[in-house]
Amino acid sequence: MPAAIVSRFKSLPRLNMLRTLTKVLPSRKPLVLLGEGSAVRLCHSMADQGFQRVLIVTDEILRSLGTVDPMVEAFKARGITCSVFDGVKPDPTFAVVDAGLAALRQLRGDAILVVGGGSAIDAGKVISLSAASGKTPLELVGVFKARQPGLPLFVVPSTSGTGSEVSVAAVISDSVTHVKSLVADPGVVPVAAALDPLVTRGMPPSVTAETGIDALTHALEGWMSVFADEQTDQYNRAAVRMILANLETACTEPGNLAARDAMALASHYAGLSLSTTFVGYVHAIAHQLGGRYGIPHGRANAMVLPHVLAFNLPSCADRFARLARELGLTAPGAPDAAAAQALLNRINDLLASVPVRRGGQQLKPEDFPGIIEDALKEAHGTYPVPRYMNEADVEQILRQIRAVT
Ligand SMILES: [Fe+2]
Repeated sequence: MPAAIVSRFKSLPRLNMLRTLTKVLPSRKPLVLLGEGSAVRLCHSMADQGFQRVLIVTDEILRSLGTVDPMVEAFKARGITCSVFDGVKPDPTFAVVDAGLAALRQLRGDAILVVGGGSAIDAGKVISLSAASGKTPLELVGVFKARQPGLPLFVVPSTSGTGSEVSVAAVISDSVTHVKSLVADPGVVPVAAALDPLVTRGMPPSVTAETGIDALTHALEGWMSVFADEQTDQYNRAAVRMILANLETACTEPGNLAARDAMALASHYAGLSLSTTFVGYVHAIAHQLGGRYGIPHGRANAMVLPHVLAFNLPSCADRFARLARELGLTAPGAPDAAAAQALLNRINDLLASVPVRRGGQQLKPEDFPGIIEDALKEAHGTYPVPRYMNEADVEQILRQIRAVT
């Protein structure tokens, strides 16, 4: 029996266990503040709650751009002592988390405010959980290792795509091996998040496009997931609708705050679904391209997404057709096959219209066996995909990506 088929059958009990866990575990959701100025309002809300010593976790670029200045000023105005830790780098390492913990201890902080993208939010989550639990970041790797909430964590995302402000997970890398470790714990969910277009308008168009496609991928993989339910369908339908209507504008008009607002909310909605529906083969393959070739996550998703949608079409024609009808992409009476194709065409049109480089010439055929093995290992047993791939399916997708110029 082919390895992928064996892997599929072995994975079924684990998938059933995951489905049960998503239904019975308590899910925390952050309070969300929306709109222009919501980041500063969040700081005042923290003052109202009585916090006195706040560590701001961010990166050097955002600090040098002055993005955190209004928040520092707001804390000062309310008599809160704050310190800025700007040591976060992309794909944060355990060393970065340790440095953030040291800054928190020096401040004797009683809360954390993250201002940044997915990397900063992940670092802030693990700093928060380690500080409250007394466990080292390494001891927190795995599922539910802290068994208590983290230090109160507040988040201002600077990108619109990861949905990290709402998820129960954080990823930390080993600085030597570059192996990524997952910390999954309800205790990392922030108390509150501010989705402020005055913060996200600093994103360049390419980052806006790539992170937006990441959000679109979360929504579509959530829609295709066999764990999807009525609530996740509501979140993901709203996310796809808003991304189709606003991503191009957010890229071409960086100062369009209404488009920024919509993209932040779309990313958040797709993030709300993630804890139930997880992701699928797009992420499983994209993670390998990111790890081997340093391709940013959203761009890797953009390279893989059309091929996985086409692969899933035989299993998802009715689901794709329903989404196309609900989004008004096809006539109400159109047959499933035509309606489903209308959705895929619209997704491809969007990918072609935003500044994301999707050429895959850097993929090396000699790397394919390792990429295929690692992608299938990641997906099978964890991701509730609607149609299983074997090695040849993944290889065909890799060859299709490599042919894109
Ligand atoms: Fe993602």
